[in-house]
Amino acid sequence: MSIHERIKEQLNKRMQAGNLRCLKAEQAGADFFSNDYLGFARSAELAAWVAQRYAALPSPRLGATGSRLLSGNSSLAMQLEQKLAQIFDGQAALLFNSGYVANMALIAALAQKGDLILYDELIHASLREGYRLSLADRKPFLHNNLADLERKLQTACHTHTNGCVFVVTESVYSMDGDNAVLADIVALCQAYNAYLLIDEAHSTGIFGNLGNGIACSLGVHRHCLARVYTFGKAIGAHGACIVGEQQLIDYLVNFARPFIFSTALPDHTLVSIATAFDYLAQHPELVDKLREVVAYYHEAVTGLYLPADVQLICNQSPIQAIVVPGNARCKALAASLAGAGCLAMPILAPTVAAGAERLRICLHAFNTKLEIDSLVQAIARFFS
Ligand SMILES: Cc1ncc(COP(=O)(O)O)c(C=O)c1O
Repeated sequence: MSIHERIKEQLNKRMQAGNLRCLKAEQAGADFFSNDYLGFARSAELAAWVAQRYAALPSPRLGATGSRLLSGNSSLAMQLEQKLAQIFDGQAALLFNSGYVANMALIAALAQKGDLILYDELIHASLREGYRLSLADRKPFLHNNLADLERKLQTACHTHTNGCVFVVTESVYSMDGDNAVLADIVALCQAYNAYLLIDEAHSTGIFGNLGNGIACSLGVHRHCLARVYTFGKAIGAHGACIVGEQQLIDYLVNFARPFIFSTALPDHTLVSIATAFDYLAQHPELVDKLREVVAYYHEAVTGLYLPADVQLICNQSPIQAIVVPGNARCKALAASLAGAGCLAMPILAPTVAAGAERLRICLHAFNTKLEIDSLVQAIARFFS
């Protein structure tokens, strides 16, 4: 079979399964699908702060011109890393070009032959990319299931006596929106000498002091080997950082290949990230507003009639979901809501397991009660 025939066959398979991915132009409607939880990406006031600070740079560069180890380093990047280490209460922080790259780089650099990676079955693709690049053994544990994790940690005591055991979780799960049972996972890792790697992508900016995430808010952050925070979601910018002990960061500078061999983030992005955290410190009411919106949504969906096979998932995070089994049905729900001016994303198999297809509803500090009422009415009409 030629490569062209193979490509065609794979695309046809996707089409037949109803899950062919394709790019769509912007649609008008209420935003229930972006990760811009606090509205930072669209804030004219924050944009003005960023523009002012960028204009005040003595010699800004449009592009970083190289990787950090060559021409791409700057005092701006190093100052931002110090600021991030302070915010996230770690010894040191290292910037990466995106959360995807940070997760992939971290696991690929740390985990080696003879090691074992125990990962929550629902972790993000970028964390999986990391273990795919490493020669370590890997095993999923049932989502948030402490008994299953403990069983696997116990087994690892016999099977991986000479290697390191890593446990990989997210603090807020990107598809279900629920929180990891983090304090208990930390306790298990301590009991079995395992190293915890935690992805705080969806908690950065909205949980903890100054948005410093769930591990910090629970006071367990120093028990994590590494924490990943991303800036493309609530922070409204782009990029990510890994926080940990100085020795870990020194190791990543030496062994994290995407850090070593890729052009660094541009100055404008560095200024945007730093400014967004200052803006957040000045506007704590936005986080309160987000909590109010989440509470209003929970009230609005209470008593909503849904067929027996459809499941409502309500969370304290901004990510809510309605599990609607079947790609076609889930897409039909999203299309019907879009027709009513409410934009929410269908998450289809194979991104999630077949039968667990869901409408992912992201809530934001800027969503109005009227928008939420329209969303809930449109859901009710679809299932009536
Ligand atoms: C849990 C999680 N981690 C990491 C990432 C990747 O972050 P980024 O978009 O900055 O590449 C995402 C992106 O959606 C995510 O949901």
